[in-house]
Parts: sequence; C-alpha cells; structure tokens
Amino acid sequence: MRNAVPQEIEITKINESKISQVDFENLAFGKVFTDHMFICDYVNGEWQTPKIVPYGPLTLDPSARVFHYGQAVFEGMKAYKDDQGDTFLFRPDENFKRINKSAERLAMPEFPEEYFFDGLNTLLKLDDQWIKSGFGNSLYIRPFVIATQPSVSASEADEYRFMIICSPAQSYYSGDVSVLVAEKFSRSASGGFGYAKAAGNYAGQFYPTKLAKEQGYQQIIWTDSNTHEYVEEAGTMNVFFRINDTLLTAPVSDRILDGITRKSLIALAEKQGYNVEVRPIKVSEVVDAFNNGSLKEIFGAGTAAVVSPVKAFGYKGEHYELEKQENSYASYFKKSLMDIQYNKAEDSFGWRTKV
Ligand code: COI
Repeated sequence: MRNAVPQEIEITKINESKISQVDFENLAFGKVFTDHMFICDYVNGEWQTPKIVPYGPLTLDPSARVFHYGQAVFEGMKAYKDDQGDTFLFRPDENFKRINKSAERLAMPEFPEEYFFDGLNTLLKLDDQWIKSGFGNSLYIRPFVIATQPSVSASEADEYRFMIICSPAQSYYSGDVSVLVAEKFSRSASGGFGYAKAAGNYAGQFYPTKLAKEQGYQQIIWTDSNTHEYVEEAGTMNVFFRINDTLLTAPVSDRILDGITRKSLIALAEKQGYNVEVRPIKVSEVVDAFNNGSLKEIFGAGTAAVVSPVKAFGYKGEHYELEKQENSYASYFKKSLMDIQYNKAEDSFGWRTKV
C-alpha cells in the first residue's frame, strides 16, 4: 500500500506524564507503558484518520470478533537510544512487512506503510523521554491489529483497529534459560499459520509451557508436528545450536516464524566467516552432539529475548546441562548485534534507521 496518502495524525497529549512513577532500574518486561498510544480504525473498507491519544483502556463491544475468534496479529520491535541521545529502530521495514503478511493470513486488511511509519515516528518523538540510553535499555514497541466488528458470526470481520503501544524494557529473561524439547504438543502444523505473528500461536503455547515450567523449564523448543523429530523454534525466540564451531538453525517454513533477529544473526555470522548451516536439525543429532561433547552452545534469538543462552535442555525424561563456554558465540553475537542497534558499530548492512 505504498500509494496511500497519509492523513494528518490527530494528536491528544496527556496533561501530565506518569514517567516519574516508574522505576527504570527494575522493569519487569511489558508491564509499564508510555504516556501515549497510536490508534487507527478500519471502517467501511478504509483506514480512518490516525490518532495518538493518552495511553489507556479501550471500549469495545463484547461481541467484537477478536474476543471470540482471536482474529489478532502483532509485532515486536525496539527503539534504542545512543549516548548522544539519538534514537534508532532496527530493520523496521521487516516488522512492517511481517505484520501485513500475518494480517493477510488472518484475512485482515493491509495496513498502509505511510501510516505505520508516520504513526510510529510521531509516537516515539512524543514519548522520547521514555527511551533510556545505555546498553540493554530499550523501548519495546508492540504494533497490533484486532478485529473490532461487533458480531459473533464466525467469519472475517470488516472492522479493525490497528494500534501501537510502547513499554520501556530491559532484558526479557533474567538469566540463562532452560528449555524442554516437545515430544507431544505442537506449536503449529504445515498449512497452518505458524509463520504469522498471530495471537493464537502464542495462546496455544501457554498450556504446554505451563507444564514445562512445573518441571523447572522456562520455555519449550517445539518440534515438527508430524514426527516430533526435528527442532523448530521456542516460544519467544528462534533457536541456534553450536556444534563444534558450526552454527546451526532450522530453516523457516509455514510453521516457523521468520525471525528478524534470527536472520540478522545468520547474516552477521556469514559475514564474519563462521560456518553456518541452515537445515533441518534432528533432536537426536543434538542429543548425540551433547553425548560426544561437540554440542557447545544453544541460544535463542528474538526481539524481546535478544540473544538468550540456554543452560540446559530436557528431552524424553533426560536432563542435559550445558557447560559454560569461554568466548561463547552467544555473547559474541549479542554484542555484535547490540553494537549495531545502539549505534556503537558501523552498520554495513544498513539495518539502523534513525527516528
Ligand atoms: C518478540 O520478541 O518481540 C516477541 O514477539 C516475543 C514475545 C511473545 C515476547
């Protein structure tokens, strides 16, 4: 929708910022939100005048289809502030493309590019004081679209709301994570919508993840729904394995999210001359590599999770503890990525976008 003419955003500012009540040293992920939010409604086949209003509750009809059929998609992105006070986004075009790809799969209308970027930039400038500089501080940005049409008829809606809300963030996980490899449950199946950032893809993970937590694991590594023999992705991140000096990750498919951090790490690793293999990975290969000592690392990659080392995994009743590595790939890639995001390193890929 490159040709849509952007409409002027109607802005209603807050009277008084709530920022002084926030403890920026102790932020739990996704609990505190900035002063403003962006809203754009889709009615009569058109996106209406976009608005920025004080952050607050919505009024929706109880029959709105999002409540009944989960017609909802979202994105996760971050804004980073450098030491000079300039703010940057990381590959925002990728988020824009992906939210529309997700929307298409859920029969939702495409959101225009100009509205997305105008809305986002205006919101970030208005709530600039919420973006703190310093490595590890960021503003987590959550664009999302919900079906607002009142009616419980089970078909796609013809009224929607696109919104952007923002939350100051530090790390998603407080330390290294442990993961359980799925033997029975599936995140998605071929022909489904695992590749979409659809709300239901996450809701369906909560129950198996709750069971995994009862066994002491924080996340599940999903396996393919046909055989449960191949690793796919984890609940909040794509997954990488280091076997000897080779970095391995599963290819994306209609079941696996095409993670932006994932593909950035692959590009960084290839540029640095690392041996990277993007191919189906059997769980048995990972277990064998653990047993013969060649499995050096597992880590997750995602916008919220950044690069999160995995300290242990469980599979078929066995528990495997990984040894901590000196000069780990996880810490190298985390630093290389964050140096670009925080404007500390040259951006040879052109990933950084100044707000
Ligand atoms: C993100 O990394 O932005 C995600 O969307 C994962 C989320 C479920 C926390």
